[in-house]
Amino acid sequence: MTAPAELAVIGGSGLYALLDDATEHDVDTPYGKPSDPITVARVGDRNVAFLPRHGRDHRFPPHRIPYRANLWALRQLGVRQILAPCAVGGLRPELGPGAFVIPDQLLDRTSGRTQTYYDGGAVHVNFADPYCPVGRETLKRAAKEINPTDSGTMVVVEGPRFSTRAESRWFTSIGGAVVNMTGYPEAVLARELALCYTTIALVTDLDAGVEGDHGVTHEEVFRVFGENTAKLRGILMDALATIPLDRDCPCGHALDGLKLPIELP
Ligand code: ADE
Repeated sequence: MTAPAELAVIGGSGLYALLDDATEHDVDTPYGKPSDPITVARVGDRNVAFLPRHGRDHRFPPHRIPYRANLWALRQLGVRQILAPCAVGGLRPELGPGAFVIPDQLLDRTSGRTQTYYDGGAVHVNFADPYCPVGRETLKRAAKEINPTDSGTMVVVEGPRFSTRAESRWFTSIGGAVVNMTGYPEAVLARELALCYTTIALVTDLDAGVEGDHGVTHEEVFRVFGENTAKLRGILMDALATIPLDRDCPCGHALDGLKLPIELP
């Protein structure tokens, strides 16, 4: 059987659908159901899957997203490359609403989220560079007309509240460029399944330590995301049609030489 999809997009806040003429796959996994049925459609000569990480009606807040089921379900469909757009707050004045960032590093400030598939044995994956180098180059090229910031550290907080001004200033002082609530454990679970995973961050607000006025609001995040969705879609469709499928990167070798306590789909 040919795999239903080789590439996937996991859509964030404000991106609940992407593909036209899609078929829907109601997938189940050992970790329960993913956030939503997965839609699959042709993009150019590729089969592409789409999964809205919060569910199409945004019923899962960041700390309740079934991250393990989501990544497992995509791998089960045949997916090996994932593009994962997300909304973020800017931690530097020059990264204001509407800016795009392609992070190269991640700083985990979540707590209590299940972050591994490997409870039953010692499996320690290399996570020094959390994002796929080929995916990052592809997104940089696809986004070049809007001049994205092509590196930076994404701080991932537990939420669902936004950060205090003190927390936010601290994130900036330790090197954070942007902050969000969903980038972890999604990235490490992808690595634990030897998947390529790349994020593109759309800045929806200046975080509390930088903006110095009313703080971040839910309304602002969704409004700015909505205003920039068309641009984001264009970047994703270009990247999906052009990303190399031969996986000439370390991601697919993440589990080489490790003894896995479970069988991967
Ligand atoms: N998502 C969008 N803006 C954010 C912010 N300022 N903090 C955390 N997550 C966000």
